[in-house]
Amino acid sequence: MFATPADVKCLDCAAHGPRLRSVHAAALAAVDAGRMPWRAGNDAWLASIERVRALAADLFDGDPEGVAMLHSVGHAMSLAARNLPLERGESVLVLDAQFPSNLLPWQHRCAQVGARVVRAVRRVGQDWTGAVLDALEANPSVRIAALPHAHWHDGALLDMDAIAGRCRARGIALVLDLSQSLGVLRVDIDRWQPQFVASVGHKWLLGGYGLAWLWVAPHWRRHGEPLEQHWFARDHDAAMASPLQLPPFRDGARRFDAGAVAHGQLLAMAEAALGQLKAWGVDAVHQALARRTGAFDAALHAGGAGDWSTPGHAPHVLGLRPPRDRLDAVAAALSQRGAVFTQRHGVLRIAPYLQVTVADMHGLARAAASAR
Ligand SMILES: Cc1ncc(COP(=O)(O)O)c(C=O)c1O
Repeated sequence: MFATPADVKCLDCAAHGPRLRSVHAAALAAVDAGRMPWRAGNDAWLASIERVRALAADLFDGDPEGVAMLHSVGHAMSLAARNLPLERGESVLVLDAQFPSNLLPWQHRCAQVGARVVRAVRRVGQDWTGAVLDALEANPSVRIAALPHAHWHDGALLDMDAIAGRCRARGIALVLDLSQSLGVLRVDIDRWQPQFVASVGHKWLLGGYGLAWLWVAPHWRRHGEPLEQHWFARDHDAAMASPLQLPPFRDGARRFDAGAVAHGQLLAMAEAALGQLKAWGVDAVHQALARRTGAFDAALHAGGAGDWSTPGHAPHVLGLRPPRDRLDAVAAALSQRGAVFTQRHGVLRIAPYLQVTVADMHGLARAAASAR
């Protein structure tokens, strides 16, 4: 089903998801259709936008009214940072070494209002959940917690039930960047009650680069301010008449749709990708990927390298931390066997998808554990 070359074992799906053949074909067909844009017409284009929005909504709580389409998570988090209340002396909680798209907007907003960013940092042996709960305890000024479900470096998981429960009890607004988990880990909007939830579309959602998703809590669908002014987020007919008065926003989270976001090629890719994910089901993907990383961990363990893997990692991402003097040999052994992965700060990020088999994972881990 995948267009990845057979000799490549792509373990870099946390950087860019694999390309399904159906997604590739949809992209090519859309480029082709672009030669004669008048053929499909405006209504078909608008209908395809709403079909894709509804497919994306299935990953959140099933309600398309809550979903906006943007170009990036940086845009989504800038929106959240602009709208959520934050005052001088208050603070925003993030993880240590959090992805910049879920850090820079908070740093910017804090600088504007005289608030500050505080980081959850793990003590030795502590998990992220403990670090977040400790940081909340130590910082009564936290007003917003802007977090992921799994750390982008090594897939270390956060217990969102526990963290969301603590945030709710303290009246802290929860904002989530699920770029490294949506499509693999279930989201529980009802239980977590977040304010804004974002994800890129090109990793675990198998779509193209440049179409990202934002789920928005009901309050902001009525009262939120977008970052830009353009006709696409407003009542189309009213906006096209160029009235003197500002025309109304479109319904629901559509007011946050980014300008020129509904690009035919990206929509076509997203429709094919999200349709496939729906057919598989998020739980089945979760289990299939857990079998792959489970086989990897088991082979590491059998090779005496069980402690190289991230404790409590997500089903689809782990960080491989060989001893410093063996890091280069391990990276070379994996590369020789066709593996592609990201190496950062002494960690090899192992992030497979379904195109890599359980047997592949087993063989790669065996090679890694014996490399010197
Ligand atoms: C956790 C996380 N958030 C966000 C992004 C992307 O953010 P943006 O869409 O702003 O480029 C990535 C990776 O590209 C990521 O790993």
